[in-house]
Amino acid sequence: MNRALRIHSYGDADALKIDSIAMPTPASGQVVVHVKAAGINSIDWKIRDGWLQNDFPLPLPATLGVELAGEVIEVGQDVGGFAIGDRVMGPSVGLGAYADFVAIASNTLVKTPASLTDERAAAIPVGALTAWQALFEAGELKRGQTVLIHGAAGGVGSFAVQFARRAGARVIATAQGINAGYLRGLGADEVIDYRTSSFWERAKDVDLVLDLVGGAVLANSWQVLADTGRIVSAAAPDIEAQTPAGKRGIWFQMRPDAAQLAEIVGLVDQGGVKVEVSEVAALGDATAAIERNKTGHGPGKAVILF
Ligand SMILES: NC(=O)c1ccc[n+]([C@@H]2O[C@H](COP(=O)([O-])OP(=O)(O)OC[C@H]3O[C@@H](n4cnc5c(N)ncnc54)[C@H](OP(=O)(O)O)[C@@H]3O)[C@@H](O)[C@H]2O)c1
Repeated sequence: MNRALRIHSYGDADALKIDSIAMPTPASGQVVVHVKAAGINSIDWKIRDGWLQNDFPLPLPATLGVELAGEVIEVGQDVGGFAIGDRVMGPSVGLGAYADFVAIASNTLVKTPASLTDERAAAIPVGALTAWQALFEAGELKRGQTVLIHGAAGGVGSFAVQFARRAGARVIATAQGINAGYLRGLGADEVIDYRTSSFWERAKDVDLVLDLVGGAVLANSWQVLADTGRIVSAAAPDIEAQTPAGKRGIWFQMRPDAAQLAEIVGLVDQGGVKVEVSEVAALGDATAAIERNKTGHGPGKAVILF
C-alpha cells in the first residue's frame, strides 16, 4: 500500500486525508524512495488553506510535502550514483513528499550519512538550503558583517543563525524570549524578544536582514539597514513592491542543489551544524502537526514519521 497525505479541495485541517494511491514508477533520472520521514513546512498549510492557489494552481487531489528522507527501492534509467538500498535525503521538486513511496529526481538527493537518523535528515533539506542560499547568494553575506535574522528559531532560521556565525558574521536574532537560550547556543550574538522589544530600536547599521516572517516585521526592518544594506525575504513575495526608494529588497526562493546540500550534510555529520527536531508525528497525527506549524511550534522543525 502507498499511503499519501492529500488535499482534495482547499480548506482547514479537515481538508487533509490519508489516501491509498498507486505505486510510482521512476521516469528517466528518477529513483523511487521508500519514505521514512518528511519535514513539515509552512507551505503545507499555505497550500492547504488555498493561499497559493492563484500563484501555483494545483491539479487536485494533490499530495503535500516538500522534503523527505528514506531508502531507494528502485532506480530509473540514466541515474548515476544511486543504488537500491541507499539511504537518501533531499527536497522534492514540487510537492509529493508525504507518501510511503515517491518517485523523485535523483539529482536533487544526497546520501544520508550513518550518523543521521531519517527524522533528523528530513529536517534539513528545505530549511538548510533556504538559509544557505538566502544568506550567501541573495544576501552576499561576508565575514565581519552584521545580519539580523527574523524568525530565527524556526526551521530556516535555526540553520541561518549557525551558517552566518560560521561565516564570521555578527548575528542578531529575533524570536520569542523562551528561545533565547537555544539561539545563543546556535551562535547568536544577540537575541531580541519580539514580544517585549522593538527590534528597530536595538539593531542599527545592519548589512543584511534575513526576513522569515514578513508583514509588520518586514515593514519595520528598512530603518535598521546600513546605507549599503539589503533585506532578503523568503516570506514576502511582494517585497520588491514594498521596497522604499533608495533601499534594496530582494525576494528569495530556494532551489534544490545537491552539491550545496552535500556540503551542509557534511557539516552536520562532522558535528559543526546542529539539527533541531521539535516534534516527530506519526502519519495519523500529521494533520495536527501541520496545524501546529501554523499556530506556533517549538524551535527547529517538526517531521512526520512514515
Ligand atoms: N521562499 C522560499 O524558498 C522559502 C523556503 C522555506 C521557507 N520559506 C518561508 O520562510 C518562512 C519561515 O519558514 P520556517 O520553515 O523557518 O518557518 P517556522 O519554522 O514556522 O519558523 C518561523 C518562526 O518565526 C517566528 N516568529 C513568529 N512571529 C515572529 C515575529 N513577529 N518576529 C520574529 N519571529 C517570529 C516563530 O518563532 P518563535 O517560536 O520564536 O515565535 C517561528 O518559529 C515561512 O514564511 C516559509 O513559508 C520560504
